[in-house]
Amino acid sequence: MLDKLTADESNLLKNYLSNRLKQRSIKRGLSIVYDITYFCNLCCKGCAVNAKKHKSTHISVDNLELTTEKVFTLLDKIKNHIDKNNIKSFFLNYGGGEPFLRSDFKEILKYSSKLFGKESVATDTNGTFVSVNDLLEIKDYVSYVGVSIDGLEYYHNNWRGRTDIDNPFQKSMNLITESLKYPELKNILEVSSVATKENISEIPILIKELNNLGVKAYSVHRTFPVGRMAKFTSIIPDTADYINLALIIAKANEDYEIDCHFHHSIESIYGTILLGWDTYIADQVVGNPDSRSSFGIDPTGNIYFDPWCMVKPWNQLIGGNILSKNFNFDYLTSGKGIGMLEIAKQYSLMQNRCDKCHLRCSGGSRIAASAFYLADLKRESLSDLLIGLSKIDPICPLYSKKN
Ligand SMILES: C[S@@+](CC[C@H](N)C(=O)[O-])C[C@H]1O[C@@H](n2cnc3c(N)ncnc32)[C@H](O)[C@@H]1O
Repeated sequence: MLDKLTADESNLLKNYLSNRLKQRSIKRGLSIVYDITYFCNLCCKGCAVNAKKHKSTHISVDNLELTTEKVFTLLDKIKNHIDKNNIKSFFLNYGGGEPFLRSDFKEILKYSSKLFGKESVATDTNGTFVSVNDLLEIKDYVSYVGVSIDGLEYYHNNWRGRTDIDNPFQKSMNLITESLKYPELKNILEVSSVATKENISEIPILIKELNNLGVKAYSVHRTFPVGRMAKFTSIIPDTADYINLALIIAKANEDYEIDCHFHHSIESIYGTILLGWDTYIADQVVGNPDSRSSFGIDPTGNIYFDPWCMVKPWNQLIGGNILSKNFNFDYLTSGKGIGMLEIAKQYSLMQNRCDKCHLRCSGGSRIAASAFYLADLKRESLSDLLIGLSKIDPICPLYSKKN
């Protein structure tokens, strides 16, 4: 399908990818998405983690999944693992649910930055009740704050589902506009959207608006039939949609100052096909052998193969609970590994997947490959799920060519 691009389109995409390659460090360290709570004040229709709607914008400590002390213990254990293994590159991204619902979240960010350094910590928020003062308080503890805007006003508010918040789009946009008045916040603010077939046409307008406001960074997430999104398979973008989106993003980078990018799993495939990138580093990483993939930690401290695995049936790919006495990070480490994560990794290795495609590519997303496989089968046993990890990510342009 990439071979159907015109010469101008192909050059546009190649330029974008070359610039991204300069920005993208090949991570050989450890990357974690930590969903610190599953409570959320919104109820996004396609929430990938099935976040639980919570009426207020504050959760009392008694109702939290883990106490502050337990979160600190969990973070200490990660820090010990990093120090013991001399891991040079580490990144911890907080998600949820809505992390700021936790009244102790600022403390958690402060503690995280003390342990790992501000450059290694980030958070996402829906931005509907966080104030500029909140962001000013945490600005020294994070490398970026991601605010989710999923399209223009009507689409965004509809996607947010039934909520007690009046016009969530306006609330989040107000936070963005106010934050941009502070240079120190402007530098750490990043807006992101989940792309669906229904909002891709709005994305060029959204980018233009964000650029006019002075937003410096924008990214587009990829979605799979996981969590509540599994009910909306018909609007998950396909190969042609993603190529269209890639061209939109590449063009926006040429036209505007705002730095835009799309999902690493798609960049990796396109980069390998168009520019010969090697985005596969099985020997150095644990879990999913895409150089950009992460582990997921759920609000109770369970660690998973990938951040997409925190809901059923994906939570079968569990590596244990970090807080349990017997948990040992070494069990997750490649080579020494035992247990489910090591098994899942075996199915994800280049030689075992993608119909033995020889390209040294990340393989896109192994979870995408498996999620679409399970959706077709209408089954979700552990063995189906593992076999799915070895299938082709259906947005691979080479795969589409075969069909
Ligand atoms: C689950 S949210 C949690 C943080 C916060 N509540 C927010 O809205 O950003 C974390 C990130 O996942 C993205 N996300 C949510 N559902 C998704 C889905 N079905 N597919 C892809 N990304 C999704 C959100 O856009 C957000 O950037």
